[in-house]
Amino acid sequence: MDSNVIIQKEGSIALLTINRPDQLNALNVKTINDLSIAFKELEADKEVKVIILTGAGDRAFVAGADIKEFYQFSVEEGKKLSKDGHEKLFNLVENLNTFVIAAVNGFALGGGLELAMSCHIRVASHNAKMGLPEVGLGVIPGYGGTQRLAQLVGKGRAIELIATAEMINSETAKDWGLVNHVTTQAELIDRCREIARRISQNSSVAIAGAVRAIIAGFQSGVNGFEMEIEEFGKCFGTQDFKEGTSAFVEKRKPNFPGA
Ligand code: COA
Repeated sequence: MDSNVIIQKEGSIALLTINRPDQLNALNVKTINDLSIAFKELEADKEVKVIILTGAGDRAFVAGADIKEFYQFSVEEGKKLSKDGHEKLFNLVENLNTFVIAAVNGFALGGGLELAMSCHIRVASHNAKMGLPEVGLGVIPGYGGTQRLAQLVGKGRAIELIATAEMINSETAKDWGLVNHVTTQAELIDRCREIARRISQNSSVAIAGAVRAIIAGFQSGVNGFEMEIEEFGKCFGTQDFKEGTSAFVEKRKPNFPGA
């Protein structure tokens, strides 16, 4: 069956494009499944150090979960949709061992913003519009938005953005810390490639450990400092650590094996 995602490998960088432009890349169950498979495949590919996630076309990153698919769901079906989404895609992306950059090239609404927020960092184009408009449909964000938005922009701004169902532009998103950089639409992917190249020169194993420790600090029942101690210790058993420290002593650039 045809996939709703396109993978383009460029050495250590992979461009992953959500490809349903006529539906503004809305996340139906098939697209969530296709993305889940693609992320797992790319994580298993040791050549790939950074994934850039974007939406096809020039209008949307993702305009949300597919409303037409779920509008007649029951309470149980709604709960299952949310739980499956968390497990299959949103938590998978946040916890992926390969670094993920969201290239937000247009509307990132509802599940679209939630997907961008599951990525490790976000870069937006000038035309991007972001929001969690679910309460305007009588539902709440169900793919981690209530948690990750508050983590990124603070409780007060998150509550207001969710309660008003309004969209913010990329400059406001940058001001709030929701996106790290803003660029033209034409330059968006190149800007992400540039950041990806810098990241891919470092130890991917160490980056994944640092990200795990950072994420742990936002989880209840997990101590981020304890996680940092664990992850720090684990580095001493990696080939990347041997290579990084040897390269320093030998006054040369490291060439990390990523193991
Ligand atoms: N779910 C399902 N289909 C969606 C969608 C979504 N979240 N967002 C857009 N689409 C579809 C539209 O139904 C339309 O399909 P059609 O041509 O078969 O009717 C197509 O994408 C184009 O969207 P359209 O609404 O015609 O474009 P627009 O420029 O007038 O408006 C938006 C753009 C983003 C403002 C509008 O599509 C919108 O409000 N989408 C829903 C956003 C939302 O509430 N997301 C959270 C969902 S939980």
